[in-house]
Amino acid sequence: MFASIILLLICVVFIVVQLKSRRPKNFPPGPPVWPILGNILDLSLENPLKDFERLKKTYGNVYSLFLGPKPVVVMNGMKTIKEALVTKGVDFAGRPQDLFVNDSTQRKGVILADYGSSWKEQRRFALMNLRNFGMGKDSMEERIHGEIQYTVDTLEKSIGKSFSPQNMFHNAASNIICQVLFGKRFEYQDETMKTLVQCFTENAKIANGPWAMLYDSFPLIRSLPLPFRQAFKNVETCQKIAKTLMNEHKQTRVPGEPRDFVDCYLDRLDKPGDDRSSFSEAQLTMYILDLHFAGTDTTSNTLLTGFLYLMNYPQVQEDIQLLTAIPLSHTSRFFFIQAVIHEIQRVANTVPLSVFHCTTKDTELNGYSIPKGTLIIPNLTSVLNEEGQWKFPNEFNPENFLNDQGEFVKPEAFMPFSAGPRMCLGEGLARMELFLFTVTLLRKFKFIWPEDAGEPDFTPVYGVTLTPKPYRMKVQLRVSQKIPNL
Ligand code: HEM
Ligand SMILES: *[C@@H]1O[C@H](CO)[C@@H](O)[C@H](O)[C@H]1NC(C)=O
Ligand SMILES: *[C@@H]1O[C@H](CO)[C@@H](O)[C@H](O)[C@H]1NC(C)=O
Repeated sequence: MFASIILLLICVVFIVVQLKSRRPKNFPPGPPVWPILGNILDLSLENPLKDFERLKKTYGNVYSLFLGPKPVVVMNGMKTIKEALVTKGVDFAGRPQDLFVNDSTQRKGVILADYGSSWKEQRRFALMNLRNFGMGKDSMEERIHGEIQYTVDTLEKSIGKSFSPQNMFHNAASNIICQVLFGKRFEYQDETMKTLVQCFTENAKIANGPWAMLYDSFPLIRSLPLPFRQAFKNVETCQKIAKTLMNEHKQTRVPGEPRDFVDCYLDRLDKPGDDRSSFSEAQLTMYILDLHFAGTDTTSNTLLTGFLYLMNYPQVQEDIQLLTAIPLSHTSRFFFIQAVIHEIQRVANTVPLSVFHCTTKDTELNGYSIPKGTLIIPNLTSVLNEEGQWKFPNEFNPENFLNDQGEFVKPEAFMPFSAGPRMCLGEGLARMELFLFTVTLLRKFKFIWPEDAGEPDFTPVYGVTLTPKPYRMKVQLRVSQKIPNL
């Protein structure tokens, strides 16, 4: 009896010592760590936002926690995030590889590929080809304009009614990427597109939910038939679709005369001589999915937020509408519209925790030591509304991007696309989309918050990307002004 009590005591002491020694030396501070469980009990698995708020208040701008045995460092504030992602860019440019998302992407593509030569090659290829893909510099703009026409048609059919714009914007953003990737668009009822969207939505939900967190925390459960299995099935389904589209291209393409991104990639594959290159058909199919996924919800959720604010700040909408009558080259027009679009992106805070990073070597941040392989979460929200960085951090106000002379200025803390070597590679495309949509639609239509809609709720729905709560809009044609051709 006595012996077992002693044994028990030894166990308790052992566990307590474990507890104390879990954080590596000079690691960022955080809540006490439980053996095996880590801090999983400190977090609400459904919506950990409140818990993060508490941790940030208690431990400061750089704090740590443990998902099971896995150390995680959360970074807050512009200075800290810039220091890590830009000044020490390479140290922080990895992606975690032993997580749910790794197993569901098989390390292909670009978003979740780890830092290294393959990622670099693939990324450089996309950056170059998204800019010009040898098809004339205007073609991106033309593709976007083409798609906006469909949005205009939808809006014209909805004049006088109040309707939910969610599908409209989602469809538009998806089709613009499809135009870039495949040179074609899909009707919303299209089965292929429906399947893709459904798989993406489901996987985003799974990746963001409790099962993925458990999967990441406890490797032992990974082979069990739990709900995360569905995510792997979804990826397979999507890859089949991507493969079909690729094969269609192979049959219709003329080598050397690329029509779109897939053709460019196939041309690249024809290049003889470099066996060690990372270009392959398996890469391409994942890449297609990556770009479609990365470019759709982000852009459409930003547009949704934009129109939510424009309806509820009618003066701002009116100001833009007046300015759309002045030629584009007029700088004051350009300044104000730029300011509004940037302010929309700031409040939309579309990718609040960026995409998770990972340290590529032992490094330091704010005097703390962070070992290689630590999961890093850059809290972009903490920068986009940081006190001291903005004139009006907590309200919607284009003045945040205008100086006293009314000129457009971009504060350093504007980083909805993150920063450093991993920064969003679709920024150029996304910015062009936001600009052309805003200007074209406001030139033609007036957007009104329906009288029966009650007070607007600007609180977003939590997720990998933030989106406004579903809302309805009312559309009128702008008839009073003669609209000059720009
Ligand atoms: C308003 C729209 C968008 C926002 C707010 C946004 C934001 C972001 C953010 C925060 C990241 C993570 C960067 C990091 O890891 O530090 C990212 C990565 C990425 N984005 Fe976007 N994005 C948008 C649109 C697009 C579009 C249209 C495309 C498609 C062409 C795209 C393609 C990518 C890719 C491929 C990555 C991964 C880059 C890498 O890991 O090297 N994004 N984006
Ligand atoms: C990110 O920053 C925001 C704003 O400062 C804060 O409310 C939130 O809790 C932070 N999230 C994390 C994960 O620390
Ligand atoms: C990541 O995924 C790949 C491919 O599915 C797998 O071979 C690899 O073991 C995974 N990495 C880790 C660290 O689990």
